Amino acid sequence: MNNITPIILDMDPGIDDAVALSIALTHPAIDIKLLTSVAGNVSVDKTTNNLLKLTTFFNKTNVPVASGASAPLKKPFVDASYIHGKSGMPGYDFPQVTAKTLPVDATTAMAQVLSMSPEPMTIVATGSYTNIALLIQQHPELLKQIKQFVLMGGSLSGGNVSSVAEFNVFTDPDAADIVFKSGVPIVMIGLDVTLKALLPLKTIDNVAHIGESGSMLQKLMTAYGDSEPGGKPMHDVNTICYLLKPEFYTTKDYWVDVITNGPAAGATIADTQNRWSNGKVNAKVAVDIDVQAFEDWFLEQIPVMNQSREGAI
Ligand code: BDR
Ligand code: CA
Repeated sequence: MNNITPIILDMDPGIDDAVALSIALTHPAIDIKLLTSVAGNVSVDKTTNNLLKLTTFFNKTNVPVASGASAPLKKPFVDASYIHGKSGMPGYDFPQVTAKTLPVDATTAMAQVLSMSPEPMTIVATGSYTNIALLIQQHPELLKQIKQFVLMGGSLSGGNVSSVAEFNVFTDPDAADIVFKSGVPIVMIGLDVTLKALLPLKTIDNVAHIGESGSMLQKLMTAYGDSEPGGKPMHDVNTICYLLKPEFYTTKDYWVDVITNGPAAGATIADTQNRWSNGKVNAKVAVDIDVQAFEDWFLEQIPVMNQSREGAI
């Protein structure tokens, strides 16, 4: 197939991360060159093990996995196990892990993959941005090898951990600040869209009947503590959907700053009135989404997963 997108995928699974990874691992138009873990929803030991559980489940143990940062750059680490359960992926009994992690850490592995890539690559991050901030600090010479960061995180319309801050940015605002100032083009997929594209509980229940992949996802999504009156937000899935179906999203170009301290720590502030950025732009911010198209697309992915999983056995 033409148009295969090679990516580095940095995650903290986490249930919505797990759903995003299930799609990315099995979609024929995505080629994951490296999977990296970061502390976030649960500890980095658990997020790493969860990546391995999913590469094993989908018979994709050829996808390299590297373990990343165990804590934010400056703040103490606080997990979100109250949303994602103790393990980060509760509710399904995964097969014995057969994959192993690389002998190098996430930042080193990212640098290796980027330096060997024939063209600039997309880095998708669905956890806090600690690993990619370390990459920027330790390997500035590789910035030209990064085409864009596609980030789940931030919000222009209120937070989910404080009145203004979204979890991934709040977890490590110092890392987010480095990433937003890096000069690498950013796609910011935040709560402005992820809280609109809710998966109704009935849709989640129906997924149980679509093969073993559907059964696994339904069990995880049912155990997921993030819930709104209209259904459950699959925040991280939007990064993968955006890569494949950017036409579902309405975006606006802004300069975005990250607040690193004080009561607004973790807030992402866009210069919507062009008051201080002099027309400069550092992020394409997703501000709206075709909700029905997202749900339909999501449902189409599960048979693809089953096919890929069975085809590989
Ligand atoms: C983000 O926070 C995490 O709990 C989710 O996995 C998602 O990446 C949503 O704010
Ligand atoms: Ca996440």
